Amino acid sequence: MKTYRFHSIPPAGNKIPPALLLRALWQAKPQPPAMLFAGNLGVNLDVNRNVLFLSSGRAALWLTLKAASRLQTRRQEVIVPAYTCPAVVSAVLKAGLQPVLCDINLEDFGYLPEALADTVSERTLAVVAVHLFGYPCALGRVLDIARRSGSYAIEDAAQAFGNPPVRRGGPGYRPGFEADAGFFSFGRGKPLSVLHGGVLIASSEDLYHEALRIYGNLNRSGRFQALRYSAYLAAYWLFWRPSLYWIPSSIPFLHLGETLFEKDFLIRRGLPSAGSVLANLMHSLERELQTRSATAAWYSERLGSLPGLFLPPDPAYPYLRYPLVAATNELRDRILCELSNRGFKSAVLYPAPLNELPRLREVLQDTRVYPNAHSLSSRLVTLPLHSGLSHEDRSRLLEAIRKACAAPPCAGAESDPAGSASSRELAKRERGCR
Ligand SMILES: Cc1ncc(COP(=O)(O)O)c(C=O)c1O
Repeated sequence: MKTYRFHSIPPAGNKIPPALLLRALWQAKPQPPAMLFAGNLGVNLDVNRNVLFLSSGRAALWLTLKAASRLQTRRQEVIVPAYTCPAVVSAVLKAGLQPVLCDINLEDFGYLPEALADTVSERTLAVVAVHLFGYPCALGRVLDIARRSGSYAIEDAAQAFGNPPVRRGGPGYRPGFEADAGFFSFGRGKPLSVLHGGVLIASSEDLYHEALRIYGNLNRSGRFQALRYSAYLAAYWLFWRPSLYWIPSSIPFLHLGETLFEKDFLIRRGLPSAGSVLANLMHSLERELQTRSATAAWYSERLGSLPGLFLPPDPAYPYLRYPLVAATNELRDRILCELSNRGFKSAVLYPAPLNELPRLREVLQDTRVYPNAHSLSSRLVTLPLHSGLSHEDRSRLLEAIRKACAAPPCAGAESDPAGSASSRELAKRERGCR
């Protein structure tokens, strides 16, 4: 078999046109980054009142939590999904608060409502609802539970920038704009990756005013950070392509494709030059969304007939990455191996629930088992959907999965007698198992 040592596909991200790169970085007067959102996203938002631009998504979450904790000084706990990005925990801890985990559901990867209802208390300051893979989780029950307990609801839309609503018997909502506050990330591997930036959308006026007070005292990034940012962006522009991505992805200390827990992180206002790149890239968002949606549909059509695979809830949604769940951990690992041999590394999103991650075990001291979070983490494969993926790449990827599914299961591996099924069926079955 041909080896793909020198051909590696980034798991997510987007092309940055060279002209845009030069124009944005050399612009004498960068555009103010508050910008962009209202007009481009078609949401009714006063950008001068509700939007704050920070150095990262986690900084935006930190700011929200800091503001919330000033308004509700007696509440110290923040509920986060047991399976999500460790940066969420970093933000909670840095705000001086206590993360409390809650299990997820396997239908839309949001909270398991019964578990959430059992977890909230009068100590809960906020509930963070994460739109994992960029797919809008059902927020209705979360908002209800948060409101009844007197806590804030915050949407983590780090992976969902620009994504469309999902109609569940109603009009649906645009992720990031529905709860008391929401935030987006523009870091590595996000829907619009400019390697810097997080945007806080504060719909709650109280929260916004408190956040604005704190924001006023935050440092602005200096000339050095701007220069360093330009260098990173130029490197990203160069290496985010299959013929070169293998170089940074084989440098261990860069940890590309991994999301590690880091206790500390920089909190600043966002860099104007990053805001400027973002503003210029905005026009490509619609095209990126269409590409991701079309590629998801392409996968769904072909993977649906393979045994032992559970497809995501909506076959053609523009996920950030396509979430495919294998019937067993053994099949998942075989798929990962076949994918890796063909240049698709980093197909795992997060390797385990937060409380099982080595760096977080000590910090969280939570020995509970979160069955759905555990189940998803051991059987999930994420497939790239971005515009850097060629038709040949997609075909190779399909061949890898077909080969993994055709191999006989290892002795002792739990098989899935029903073969392929939707994630809804998977969720039903999982509920039955518990
Ligand atoms: C779900 C989720 N929440 C929060 C974050 C934090 O965003 P950032 O990396 O911009 O701090 C990320 C990104 O890694 C994420 O994927």
